[in-house]
Amino acid sequence: MKRILVTGGAGFIGSNFVRMVLAEEKDCLLVNLDNLTYAGNLENLAGFENHPNHKFIKGDICDGPLVEKIIDSHKIEVIINFAAESHVDRSISAPKIFIETNVIGTLTLLEAARDKKLKRFIQISTDEVYGSLGAEGKFTEETSLHPNSPYSASKASADHLVQAFGHTWGLPYNITRCSNNYGPYQFPEKMIPLMINNALNDKELPVYGDGLQVRDWLYAYDHCKAIWMVLTKGKPGEIYNIGGCNEKRNLEVVKFILERLKKPESLIRHITDRLGHDRRYAIDAAKIMSRLRWKPTVSFEEGMAKTIDWYLANQKWLKNVVSGNYQKYYEQMYLNR
Ligand code: NAD
Ligand code: DAU
Repeated sequence: MKRILVTGGAGFIGSNFVRMVLAEEKDCLLVNLDNLTYAGNLENLAGFENHPNHKFIKGDICDGPLVEKIIDSHKIEVIINFAAESHVDRSISAPKIFIETNVIGTLTLLEAARDKKLKRFIQISTDEVYGSLGAEGKFTEETSLHPNSPYSASKASADHLVQAFGHTWGLPYNITRCSNNYGPYQFPEKMIPLMINNALNDKELPVYGDGLQVRDWLYAYDHCKAIWMVLTKGKPGEIYNIGGCNEKRNLEVVKFILERLKKPESLIRHITDRLGHDRRYAIDAAKIMSRLRWKPTVSFEEGMAKTIDWYLANQKWLKNVVSGNYQKYYEQMYLNR
């Protein structure tokens, strides 16, 4: 049996990963450590309270003794670190917590992984560590790091720490750098769920600047599949870029949402641009495609249709995660069993 400590497993991508593994892998224990920030919600894991292969623990990745205790008591072999402060706009208004969680938190996990001699440490990083592209070119694993926001600077710092632990102590690691994810359970501060939520409520859709910035979108399930392949087939010490080959301008994405929900484009409102806004991201995922035989399985049109339908069917979830309703209810279900 694989015994994995997943951090941040109550957030968007972490909870998609937990759902995928529990549904598809029989021989795997997931211990899920998450301190349930505004972005972490046990409602994302509803239905898995009593799953024999899933144990949720509320706690902070900066808490070294807790992390060591979990590794010992559950005989953990691998850490997959999803936990992070993940929203660029928040990092611009309040950067400190990004350093605490994304840098100190990762360092804490690395020290425990080194001391407990874990078999693998997988750091879930981001394409934003590479900075911003002009009209041409794509990020490869060899592209040098030029983070532009406090968020991406904190993630780049964490990547450097992971590599330093590999180099200095021989910690077997992988770093994955993925492009923008979308799909069910994404907190509605990120562009796609925010635009869906606003459109559903006939509120204006706030497009930063000219809306011609480009992001490379990947359905979260495909990201999770790629992480599983890195865990099971990846070579220690390697970085893998993960991307959707799906470059879209923000305005195209917003118009797609409005059309699908049959709402008027007059809801679009161009507002002041994000400070230091990265213009374009695009991932070259040739390495993971050729070496691990991964490829995206969900097209942008299919993934967006699924995502919009999911938010339409889960408007109660939307209200609850924004208001914090039911958080205590789910905490009791998880923590008192
Ligand atoms: P998210 O904000 O939805 O979830 C983060 C989770 O981490 C939450 O459940 C939160 O409660 C938890 N957390 C935060 N601080 C913690 C701490 N100190 N201790 C324990 N748990 C803590 O983020 P996401 O979008 O799911 O992103 C997950 C990871 O993937 C992040 O590392 C992010 O950098 C990376 N990533 C995200 C995207 C994307 O498009 N969302 C793309 C590439 C990489
Ligand atoms: O590229 C991977 C990264 O993608 C992850 O590492 C981050 O955790 C994740 O948040 C995401 O970062 P972005 O800044 O690209 O995502 P966001 O959804 O915040 O914004 C997407 C684009 O939409 C970006 O160009 C800013 C724009 N935008 C965003 C919001 C929230 C708007 O125009 N209006 C908005 O209200």
